[in-house]
Amino acid sequence: MIDVTDVIPQPRQVTSHEDAYFELGPDTRMAAGDGTGHTERWLRATLGAATGLPLASGEGPGGVVRLEIDGQLGAEGYRLDIAPGTVRLTGGDPAGLFWGAQTLRQLLGPDAFRRAPLPGRRWRLPLLRIEDAPRFRWRGLMLDVARHFMPKDGVLRYLDLMAAHKLNVLHFHLTDDQGWRVEITRHPRLTEKGSWRSRTKYGHRASPLWEDKPHGGYYTQEDIREIVAYAAERQITVVPEIDVPGHSQAAIAAYPELGNTDVIDTTALTVWDTWGVSPNVLAPTENTLRFYEGVFEELLELFPSEFLHIGGDECPKEQWRQSATVQARIEELALADEDELQAWFIQHFDTWLAERGRRLIGWDEILEGGLAKGAAVSSWRGYAGGIAAARAGHDVVMCPEQQVYLDHRQHGDEGEPVPIGFVRTLEDVYRFEPVPSELTPDESAHVIGTQANVWTEVMENQGRVDYQVFPRLAAFAEVAWSALPAPAERDFGAFEQRMAAHYRRLDALGVAYRPPGGPLPWQQRPGVLGRPLDGPPPNK
Ligand code: ACM
Repeated sequence: MIDVTDVIPQPRQVTSHEDAYFELGPDTRMAAGDGTGHTERWLRATLGAATGLPLASGEGPGGVVRLEIDGQLGAEGYRLDIAPGTVRLTGGDPAGLFWGAQTLRQLLGPDAFRRAPLPGRRWRLPLLRIEDAPRFRWRGLMLDVARHFMPKDGVLRYLDLMAAHKLNVLHFHLTDDQGWRVEITRHPRLTEKGSWRSRTKYGHRASPLWEDKPHGGYYTQEDIREIVAYAAERQITVVPEIDVPGHSQAAIAAYPELGNTDVIDTTALTVWDTWGVSPNVLAPTENTLRFYEGVFEELLELFPSEFLHIGGDECPKEQWRQSATVQARIEELALADEDELQAWFIQHFDTWLAERGRRLIGWDEILEGGLAKGAAVSSWRGYAGGIAAARAGHDVVMCPEQQVYLDHRQHGDEGEPVPIGFVRTLEDVYRFEPVPSELTPDESAHVIGTQANVWTEVMENQGRVDYQVFPRLAAFAEVAWSALPAPAERDFGAFEQRMAAHYRRLDALGVAYRPPGGPLPWQQRPGVLGRPLDGPPPNK
């Protein structure tokens, strides 16, 4: 038995009225106040498709859904009042109003998540009042579209899935050793050559299997504009990541002069076809700096986000140690070593972005050489980077790999498809706490939010991505949005019960989640090697 009032993520406060309903019908009207147009459009398009109801503008005898903004409710907050004859949805701002509309859809039942009406359905809303607001302002999902390309329609679908979970930042990992996925008009070979590979390792590194066919794809600048606009209409910010100076083999394969040409023959490099961390990294030359400034100039035009992500993770220093050119550069800049050179490289873009009114964010390795004031850190190697960053006055997005890397396997069974990393179950994710207890309240204020990261080495298509992401993203969304108690006190049993309704919503949306009983036959990948790790999560 499912209960539609089992909203996920859980709202702050739900007041139930008596057992009665507001029923949406052909004569129900929508009265949209100033500044509510985006939610009006979304409700008419989405609920209109699911219910077949016109939700025409105005007032009428069939009841009214009123949309309003009231700044007193605060950033992203909303109030939903469902009374006989009137639904009043009030947002503290346009975002809050939109999140309230997501709650409204959940309350209509799982069939409200379909794209056409099933026969004989009634669209009843329980009479109640909800007051709600998010815990964090950065509630993110990082999607790696470099290791396996996700075509544009898949990205738009993920934006819809994020919106349904009140997540508001798509961290878009657009480049890596295995592919470059965004058109840069002044450097066309980045996509002509860098966006595809002729074969792909099937399974993790140790697997002997290959998928012997080309894999690739990229987003044109028009695609990106569409993605960014589609996201904005859903109150989601897209933060692009161009990973430098490591994870850059695809760029070097396209433009060999970007690599360490006095160490290896970079003209012989191809887009990487296997997994791990490539030793082929950027040469820290003036040419490389100018090249990437050109890339970022085009990105600034495409992405209005406050933050741009420049990666900065896992840059092996071997080629820099071997390169006479790099060693001369270290001397010329009076730096101590290769680590200081990496810091210098990141700081160059930190300043460059700040001069253009934007902020840099990077993986926690960027802390190692000191950072400019406005820069922020994605804490992925555990909590330590985030703690150090917050103490140094930098903003932090908590995304420790031990907790919220959704490529990691979600069960210890042999049957998990291509098992990677630690076992991190739905319950583990539910008990993830983004703010470490070591931080003082002032330091904690620098933890602007959290994100789940989806690395796609072993996710070759949308179904595999869905399987790894869901249902754990639902638990993550509740961690990011709801005011949950400390991890040990969280009532996972109650969450699981509320998931009964949510699985039906995901079914209606066509999400290929991992069923609670384990993978369906076609979700298994027998004989394909993963890379399991052992050990309990640190919060246990
Ligand atoms: C990362 O997982 N290398 C950020």
